[in-house]
Amino acid sequence: MTLVINLIFGGHDTSRSVLTSAIALLTAHPGELEKLRREPDRAPAATEEILRMEAPVAVLGREPTETVETRGTKLEAGKMFFLSVLAANRDPAVFSEPDRFDIDREPKRSFSFGWGSHFCLGAALARAEVQGTLRGIACDTKAIERIGPPPAQVPFVSIRRLESFRIRVEAD
Ligand code: HEM
Repeated sequence: MTLVINLIFGGHDTSRSVLTSAIALLTAHPGELEKLRREPDRAPAATEEILRMEAPVAVLGREPTETVETRGTKLEAGKMFFLSVLAANRDPAVFSEPDRFDIDREPKRSFSFGWGSHFCLGAALARAEVQGTLRGIACDTKAIERIGPPPAQVPFVSIRRLESFRIRVEAD
């Protein structure tokens, strides 16, 4: 039962969040959308940049089994601590101009699927879902634009997702 619940929330909530963020980012950055339209094979690169900018899993919790000290921070055994995926994904020591959305960005990596032994089991499926959606937008639409006010973030600490917003799509 736990595994089924984990798969439903881990595999559904995250994917719909990132797909919504993808549409919000592309409609807010017509230049990047145009690059994708000109070259739909940029979908994998755009997917990585969307995942970096708007990681659906915003924080990860850990509880050390033994006390460790790393870079001047002591993590005590048995005490839960949280890591910010959002902050790591915008670390200026790794990503130049980290707040800029750039589908050609290097390096193409992020912490959005976690790391190590608990690295996301569904990462390949999630990437395929986003890439397929981006190719659909690039190849099957003539225009896509947001109408109405910009969407607000849902006020959760651990999940990054947008409230609903309206778009207008012109099919090709
Ligand atoms: C964009 C979509 C997704 C994102 C951003 C995402 C993110 C993550 C993250 C950050 C973790 C690590 C959690 C931790 O270390 O505490 C994780 C684990 C996991 N994810 Fe995903 N996920 C996504 C889609 C999916 C899908 C589609 C599935 C399944 C079909 C899935 C199944 C899982 C499972 C089972 C784990 C636990 C792995 C383990 O603990 O060994 N995820 N995911």
